Amino acid sequence: MIIKSNFITLKRYIPSGMPSLDDFAIKSEKINFKVNDQILVKNEWISVDPYMRGRMTERKNYIDPFELGKPMEGGALGKIIESNNKEFKKGEYVISNFGWRDYFISSDNFLTKIDVQKFQPQTFLGPLGFTGHTAYIGLFKIGQLKKNDIVLVSSAAGSVGSIVCQIAKINGCKVIASTGSDEKVKWLEKELGVDHAFNYKKIDNLVLYLKEINPEGFDLYFDNVGGDFLEAAIYRMKNYGKIVICGRISQMNATSPSPGLKNMAHVLVKRLTIKGFLIFDHLNDKEEFYNDMTYWIKSNKLKFKETIVDGLENTPKAFIELLKGRNLGKMLVRIG
Ligand SMILES: NC(=O)c1ccc[n+]([C@@H]2O[C@H](COP(=O)([O-])OP(=O)(O)OC[C@H]3O[C@@H](n4cnc5c(N)ncnc54)[C@H](OP(=O)(O)O)[C@@H]3O)[C@@H](O)[C@H]2O)c1
Repeated sequence: MIIKSNFITLKRYIPSGMPSLDDFAIKSEKINFKVNDQILVKNEWISVDPYMRGRMTERKNYIDPFELGKPMEGGALGKIIESNNKEFKKGEYVISNFGWRDYFISSDNFLTKIDVQKFQPQTFLGPLGFTGHTAYIGLFKIGQLKKNDIVLVSSAAGSVGSIVCQIAKINGCKVIASTGSDEKVKWLEKELGVDHAFNYKKIDNLVLYLKEINPEGFDLYFDNVGGDFLEAAIYRMKNYGKIVICGRISQMNATSPSPGLKNMAHVLVKRLTIKGFLIFDHLNDKEEFYNDMTYWIKSNKLKFKETIVDGLENTPKAFIELLKGRNLGKMLVRIG
Protein backbone atom coordinates (compact mmCIF):
# COMPACT_ATOMS: atom_id res chain seq x y z
CA MET A 1 0.00 0.00 0.00
CA ILE A 2 1.44 3.38 -1.04
CA ILE A 3 0.49 6.38 1.10
CA LYS A 4 1.26 10.06 0.75
CA SER A 5 2.94 11.36 3.89
CA ASN A 6 3.09 15.11 4.52
CA PHE A 7 5.72 16.58 6.81
CA ILE A 8 7.25 19.84 7.95
CA THR A 9 10.91 20.41 7.34
CA LEU A 10 13.48 23.05 8.27
CA LYS A 11 14.81 24.90 5.20
CA ARG A 12 17.84 26.52 6.83
CA TYR A 13 19.53 26.71 10.21
CA ILE A 14 18.62 29.71 12.38
CA PRO A 15 21.74 30.61 14.39
CA SER A 16 20.00 33.32 16.46
CA GLY A 17 16.82 35.35 16.70
CA MET A 18 13.17 34.38 16.41
CA PRO A 19 12.41 31.82 13.66
CA SER A 20 10.10 32.97 10.86
CA LEU A 21 7.50 31.01 8.89
CA ASP A 22 9.78 31.15 5.87
CA ASP A 23 12.38 28.99 7.69
CA PHE A 24 10.02 26.01 7.33
CA ALA A 25 8.38 24.20 4.41
CA ILE A 26 5.73 21.54 4.04
CA LYS A 27 6.72 18.60 1.85
CA SER A 28 5.38 15.19 1.00
CA GLU A 29 6.77 11.79 0.14
CA LYS A 30 5.34 8.39 -0.79
CA ILE A 31 5.70 5.72 1.87
CA ASN A 32 5.24 2.03 1.19
CA PHE A 33 3.53 -0.14 3.81
CA LYS A 34 4.15 -3.81 3.08
CA VAL A 35 6.72 -5.51 5.33
CA ASN A 36 5.94 -7.85 8.26
CA ASP A 37 5.88 -6.19 11.67
CA GLN A 38 5.40 -2.75 10.18
CA ILE A 39 2.83 -0.40 11.70
CA LEU A 40 1.21 2.46 9.82
CA VAL A 41 0.30 5.42 12.03
CA LYS A 42 -1.55 8.65 11.38
CA ASN A 43 -0.64 11.36 13.85
CA GLU A 44 -3.54 13.22 15.44
CA TRP A 45 -1.64 15.47 17.87
CA ILE A 46 1.78 17.06 17.68
CA SER A 47 3.64 18.35 20.70
CA VAL A 48 5.30 21.74 20.16
CA ASP A 49 8.24 22.21 22.53
CA PRO A 50 10.76 24.97 23.26
CA TYR A 51 13.77 22.58 23.20
CA MET A 52 13.22 22.19 19.43
CA ARG A 53 14.63 25.69 18.99
CA GLY A 54 18.04 24.32 20.03
CA ARG A 55 17.88 21.77 17.18
CA MET A 56 17.33 24.56 14.65
CA THR A 57 20.93 25.73 14.97
CA GLU A 58 24.00 23.85 13.76
CA ARG A 59 25.57 24.05 17.23
CA LYS A 60 26.28 20.78 18.98
CA ASN A 61 23.76 20.21 21.74
CA TYR A 62 22.53 17.22 23.71
CA ILE A 63 20.57 16.18 20.60
CA ASP A 64 21.75 16.57 17.00
CA PRO A 65 20.45 19.49 14.93
CA PHE A 66 17.44 18.76 12.70
CA GLU A 67 18.41 17.49 9.27
CA LEU A 68 17.52 20.13 6.69
CA GLY A 69 14.88 18.93 4.24
CA LYS A 70 13.94 15.91 6.39
CA PRO A 71 10.81 15.52 8.58
CA MET A 72 11.30 17.34 11.88
CA GLU A 73 11.37 14.92 14.79
CA GLY A 74 9.48 15.46 18.03
CA GLY A 75 6.79 14.07 20.29
CA ALA A 76 3.52 13.14 18.59
CA LEU A 77 0.48 11.00 19.22
CA GLY A 78 -1.29 9.00 16.54
CA LYS A 79 -3.69 6.21 15.74
CA ILE A 80 -2.70 2.92 14.14
CA ILE A 81 -4.28 2.73 10.68
CA GLU A 82 -2.85 -0.63 9.57
CA SER A 83 -0.64 -3.11 11.34
CA ASN A 84 1.30 -6.27 10.57
CA ASN A 85 2.30 -6.56 14.23
CA LYS A 86 0.15 -8.66 16.59
CA GLU A 87 0.96 -6.50 19.63
CA PHE A 88 0.00 -3.19 17.98
CA LYS A 89 -3.55 -3.35 16.67
CA LYS A 90 -5.44 -1.15 14.24
CA GLY A 91 -7.28 1.60 16.15
CA GLU A 92 -4.85 1.73 19.10
CA TYR A 93 -3.04 4.94 20.00
CA VAL A 94 0.74 5.36 20.17
CA ILE A 95 3.27 8.00 21.15
CA SER A 96 6.33 8.39 18.94
CA ASN A 97 9.11 10.81 18.20
CA PHE A 98 8.42 10.94 14.46
CA GLY A 99 7.29 14.52 14.90
CA TRP A 100 5.83 17.08 12.56
CA ARG A 101 4.17 14.78 10.03
CA ASP A 102 0.87 13.01 9.40
CA TYR A 103 1.41 9.41 8.19
CA PHE A 104 4.48 7.35 9.03
CA ILE A 105 5.55 3.72 9.17
CA SER A 106 7.41 2.29 12.12
CA SER A 107 8.41 -0.89 13.86
CA ASP A 108 7.18 -1.47 17.42
CA ASN A 109 10.42 -0.47 19.17
CA PHE A 110 9.86 3.20 18.30
CA LEU A 111 6.27 3.30 19.55
CA THR A 112 4.72 3.45 23.01
CA LYS A 113 1.15 2.31 23.32
CA ILE A 114 -1.21 4.40 25.42
CA ASP A 115 -4.58 3.60 26.91
CA VAL A 116 -7.07 6.26 25.87
CA GLN A 117 -10.00 4.75 27.80
CA LYS A 118 -9.45 6.89 30.89
CA PHE A 119 -7.96 10.10 29.52
CA GLN A 120 -8.16 12.09 26.31
CA PRO A 121 -5.29 10.99 24.05
CA GLN A 122 -3.48 14.35 24.04
CA THR A 123 -3.19 14.24 27.84
CA PHE A 124 -0.27 11.87 27.16
CA LEU A 125 1.62 14.73 25.51
CA GLY A 126 0.84 17.04 28.44
CA PRO A 127 0.47 16.23 32.14
CA LEU A 128 0.79 12.46 31.62
CA GLY A 129 3.66 12.88 29.14
CA PHE A 130 7.09 14.56 29.10
CA THR A 131 5.66 17.80 30.40
CA GLY A 132 4.21 16.38 33.59
CA HIS A 133 7.16 14.05 34.06
CA THR A 134 9.55 17.01 33.78
CA ALA A 135 7.64 18.96 36.42
CA TYR A 136 7.54 15.93 38.75
CA ILE A 137 11.20 14.92 38.44
CA GLY A 138 12.32 18.55 38.60
CA LEU A 139 10.48 19.23 41.81
CA PHE A 140 10.97 15.99 43.74
CA LYS A 141 14.18 14.40 42.50
CA ILE A 142 16.18 17.50 41.56
CA GLY A 143 14.64 20.12 43.85
CA GLN A 144 13.90 17.83 46.82
CA LEU A 145 10.62 19.66 47.41
CA LYS A 146 9.47 19.78 51.04
CA LYS A 147 6.18 20.71 52.65
CA ASN A 148 5.96 24.45 53.48
CA ASP A 149 8.69 25.39 51.00
CA ILE A 150 8.27 28.81 49.42
CA VAL A 151 8.54 28.08 45.69
CA LEU A 152 9.15 30.53 42.86
CA VAL A 153 8.20 29.37 39.33
CA SER A 154 8.94 31.15 36.04
CA SER A 155 6.97 30.58 32.83
CA ALA A 156 4.37 29.46 35.34
CA ALA A 157 1.36 29.43 33.00
CA GLY A 158 3.16 27.25 30.47
CA SER A 159 2.97 23.53 30.09
CA VAL A 160 5.66 22.52 32.61
CA GLY A 161 5.27 25.59 34.84
CA SER A 162 1.53 25.22 35.43
CA ILE A 163 2.03 21.64 36.58
CA VAL A 164 4.98 22.62 38.78
CA CYS A 165 2.79 25.24 40.50
CA GLN A 166 0.03 22.74 41.20
CA ILE A 167 2.27 19.90 42.41
CA ALA A 168 3.90 22.36 44.83
CA LYS A 169 0.47 23.48 46.09
CA ILE A 170 -0.71 19.87 46.48
CA ASN A 171 2.40 19.32 48.62
CA GLY A 172 1.61 22.16 51.00
CA CYS A 173 3.95 24.80 49.61
CA LYS A 174 3.51 28.52 49.05
CA VAL A 175 3.81 29.29 45.32
CA ILE A 176 4.83 32.57 43.68
CA ALA A 177 4.34 32.43 39.91
CA SER A 178 5.78 34.59 37.15
CA THR A 179 4.20 34.83 33.72
CA GLY A 180 3.92 37.11 30.69
CA SER A 181 0.31 38.37 30.54
CA ASP A 182 -2.47 39.57 32.81
CA GLU A 183 -4.79 36.84 31.49
CA LYS A 184 -2.23 34.22 32.57
CA VAL A 185 -1.86 35.90 35.98
CA LYS A 186 -5.61 35.60 36.47
CA TRP A 187 -5.67 31.93 35.47
CA LEU A 188 -2.81 31.10 37.85
CA GLU A 189 -4.44 32.83 40.80
CA LYS A 190 -8.11 32.08 40.20
CA GLU A 191 -7.99 28.61 38.65
CA LEU A 192 -4.73 27.05 39.80
CA GLY A 193 -4.72 28.62 43.26
CA VAL A 194 -1.15 29.91 43.40
CA ASP A 195 -0.54 32.30 46.28
CA HIS A 196 0.64 35.17 44.13
CA ALA A 197 1.16 35.56 40.38
CA PHE A 198 2.63 38.53 38.50
CA ASN A 199 3.30 39.70 34.97
CA TYR A 200 7.09 39.94 34.73
CA LYS A 201 6.80 42.25 31.71
CA LYS A 202 5.34 44.95 33.96
CA ILE A 203 8.05 44.79 36.65
CA ASP A 204 10.87 47.37 36.52
CA ASN A 205 13.11 45.98 39.22
CA LEU A 206 12.55 42.25 39.67
CA VAL A 207 14.84 41.87 42.70
CA LEU A 208 13.01 44.59 44.64
CA TYR A 209 9.64 43.25 43.54
CA LEU A 210 10.45 39.70 44.69
CA LYS A 211 11.56 41.15 48.04
CA GLU A 212 8.38 43.18 48.37
CA ILE A 213 6.01 40.27 47.70
CA ASN A 214 7.99 37.69 49.66
CA PRO A 215 10.46 39.23 52.15
CA GLU A 216 11.45 35.83 53.59
CA GLY A 217 13.08 34.65 50.36
CA PHE A 218 12.62 31.38 48.44
CA ASP A 219 13.45 27.80 49.37
CA LEU A 220 13.17 26.59 45.80
CA TYR A 221 13.25 28.30 42.42
CA PHE A 222 12.04 26.26 39.42
CA ASP A 223 13.79 28.00 36.53
CA ASN A 224 12.24 27.72 33.07
CA VAL A 225 13.70 30.92 31.65
CA GLY A 226 17.33 31.60 32.73
CA GLY A 227 18.93 35.02 32.06
CA ASP A 228 18.09 38.05 34.20
CA PHE A 229 15.26 36.24 35.98
CA LEU A 230 17.66 33.59 37.27
CA GLU A 231 20.02 36.27 38.52
CA ALA A 232 17.19 38.08 40.33
CA ALA A 233 16.02 34.82 41.92
CA ILE A 234 19.53 34.07 43.20
CA TYR A 235 19.50 37.40 45.06
CA ARG A 236 16.26 36.38 46.76
CA MET A 237 17.02 32.76 47.73
CA LYS A 238 17.17 31.67 51.37
CA ASN A 239 20.27 30.01 52.78
CA TYR A 240 20.56 26.41 51.50
CA GLY A 241 17.98 27.19 48.81
CA LYS A 242 17.70 25.02 45.72
CA ILE A 243 17.46 26.14 42.12
CA VAL A 244 16.23 23.65 39.54
CA ILE A 245 17.47 24.57 36.08
CA CYS A 246 14.81 23.18 33.76
CA GLY A 247 15.03 25.55 30.79
CA ARG A 248 16.36 28.86 29.48
CA ILE A 249 13.70 30.08 27.12
CA SER A 250 14.62 33.75 27.60
CA GLN A 251 17.97 32.99 25.98
CA MET A 252 16.86 30.68 23.18
CA ASN A 253 16.50 33.34 20.49
CA ALA A 254 19.18 35.64 21.86
CA THR A 255 21.22 37.37 19.17
CA SER A 256 24.34 37.60 21.37
CA PRO A 257 25.64 35.39 24.19
CA SER A 258 24.05 36.23 27.52
CA PRO A 259 26.36 37.83 30.11
CA GLY A 260 27.32 35.56 33.00
CA LEU A 261 25.68 35.72 36.42
CA LYS A 262 26.95 38.70 38.42
CA ASN A 263 25.97 37.31 41.79
CA MET A 264 27.83 34.03 42.23
CA ALA A 265 28.88 35.35 45.65
CA HIS A 266 25.28 34.72 46.76
CA VAL A 267 25.55 31.12 45.65
CA LEU A 268 28.58 30.68 47.87
CA VAL A 269 27.48 32.65 50.91
CA LYS A 270 23.96 31.20 50.93
CA ARG A 271 25.27 27.70 50.14
CA LEU A 272 22.79 27.32 47.26
CA THR A 273 22.38 24.19 45.19
CA ILE A 274 21.87 24.90 41.48
CA LYS A 275 21.18 21.77 39.49
CA GLY A 276 20.25 21.26 35.85
CA PHE A 277 18.51 18.18 34.51
CA LEU A 278 17.16 16.67 31.31
CA ILE A 279 14.09 14.52 31.48
CA PHE A 280 15.62 12.04 29.00
CA ASP A 281 17.90 10.84 31.83
CA HIS A 282 14.89 9.86 33.93
CA LEU A 283 12.77 7.83 31.52
CA ASN A 284 13.04 4.71 33.65
CA ASP A 285 11.82 6.56 36.70
CA LYS A 286 8.17 6.93 35.73
CA GLU A 287 6.00 4.72 37.88
CA GLU A 288 5.54 7.00 40.88
CA PHE A 289 5.00 9.98 38.60
CA TYR A 290 2.35 8.14 36.61
CA ASN A 291 0.49 6.90 39.69
CA ASP A 292 0.48 10.31 41.39
CA MET A 293 -0.42 12.21 38.24
CA THR A 294 -3.33 9.94 37.28
CA TYR A 295 -4.67 10.25 40.82
CA TRP A 296 -4.33 14.06 40.83
CA ILE A 297 -6.05 14.41 37.45
CA LYS A 298 -8.87 11.99 38.26
CA SER A 299 -9.54 13.60 41.62
CA ASN A 300 -9.52 17.09 40.07
CA LYS A 301 -6.58 18.19 42.19
CA LEU A 302 -4.62 19.07 39.07
CA LYS A 303 -6.02 21.06 36.16
CA PHE A 304 -4.51 21.69 32.77
CA LYS A 305 -5.16 23.76 29.71
CA GLU A 306 -4.25 23.24 26.08
CA THR A 307 -3.70 25.83 23.39
CA ILE A 308 -4.66 24.09 20.16
CA VAL A 309 -3.65 25.09 16.64
CA ASP A 310 -5.31 23.16 13.80
CA GLY A 311 -3.53 21.73 10.77
CA LEU A 312 -0.10 20.21 10.20
CA GLU A 313 0.74 23.15 7.92
CA ASN A 314 0.31 25.48 10.91
CA THR A 315 2.86 23.70 13.14
CA PRO A 316 5.64 26.28 12.48
CA LYS A 317 3.16 29.05 13.37
CA ALA A 318 2.30 27.22 16.61
CA PHE A 319 5.99 26.90 17.41
CA ILE A 320 6.66 30.61 16.86
CA GLU A 321 3.60 31.50 18.95
CA LEU A 322 4.92 29.29 21.76
CA LEU A 323 8.22 31.19 21.74
CA LYS A 324 6.24 34.45 21.84
CA GLY A 325 4.23 33.31 24.84
CA ARG A 326 0.84 33.03 23.11
CA ASN A 327 0.11 29.65 24.74
CA LEU A 328 -1.75 29.02 27.96
CA GLY A 329 -0.76 25.56 29.17
CA LYS A 330 0.40 23.00 26.62
CA MET A 331 0.84 24.06 22.98
CA LEU A 332 -0.50 21.35 20.65
CA VAL A 333 -1.24 20.97 16.97
CA ARG A 334 -4.28 18.91 16.00
CA ILE A 335 -4.21 17.10 12.68
CA GLY A 336 -7.65 16.42 11.28
N1 LIG B 1 14.91 19.96 31.34
C1 LIG B 1 14.07 19.27 30.58
O1 LIG B 1 14.19 18.07 30.37
C2 LIG B 1 12.90 20.01 29.99
C3 LIG B 1 11.78 19.31 29.49
C4 LIG B 1 10.69 20.05 28.99
C5 LIG B 1 10.77 21.45 28.97
N2 LIG B 1 11.90 22.06 29.42
C6 LIG B 1 12.00 23.52 29.46
O2 LIG B 1 10.98 24.00 30.30
C7 LIG B 1 10.60 25.30 29.90
C8 LIG B 1 9.10 25.32 29.71
O3 LIG B 1 8.75 24.44 28.64
P1 LIG B 1 7.24 24.24 28.22
O4 LIG B 1 7.21 23.15 27.23
O5 LIG B 1 6.42 24.14 29.43
O6 LIG B 1 6.94 25.61 27.47
P2 LIG B 1 5.88 26.68 27.92
O7 LIG B 1 6.29 27.25 29.24
O8 LIG B 1 4.52 26.09 27.79
O9 LIG B 1 5.99 27.75 26.77
C9 LIG B 1 7.03 28.62 26.66
C10 LIG B 1 6.74 29.92 27.44
O10 LIG B 1 7.96 30.61 27.66
C11 LIG B 1 7.65 31.93 27.99
N3 LIG B 1 8.67 32.83 27.44
C12 LIG B 1 8.98 33.04 26.14
N4 LIG B 1 9.97 33.95 26.05
C13 LIG B 1 10.28 34.31 27.32
C14 LIG B 1 11.22 35.22 27.88
N5 LIG B 1 12.06 35.94 27.12
N6 LIG B 1 11.26 35.34 29.22
C15 LIG B 1 10.43 34.61 30.01
N7 LIG B 1 9.52 33.75 29.53
C16 LIG B 1 9.45 33.61 28.21
C17 LIG B 1 6.27 32.24 27.38
O11 LIG B 1 5.35 32.49 28.45
P3 LIG B 1 5.21 33.94 29.13
O12 LIG B 1 3.88 34.46 28.69
O13 LIG B 1 5.26 33.62 30.59
O14 LIG B 1 6.34 34.81 28.66
C18 LIG B 1 5.88 30.91 26.71
O15 LIG B 1 4.52 30.63 26.83
C19 LIG B 1 11.37 25.61 28.62
O16 LIG B 1 12.49 26.37 28.95
C20 LIG B 1 11.78 24.24 28.14
O17 LIG B 1 12.93 24.28 27.36
C21 LIG B 1 12.94 21.38 29.93
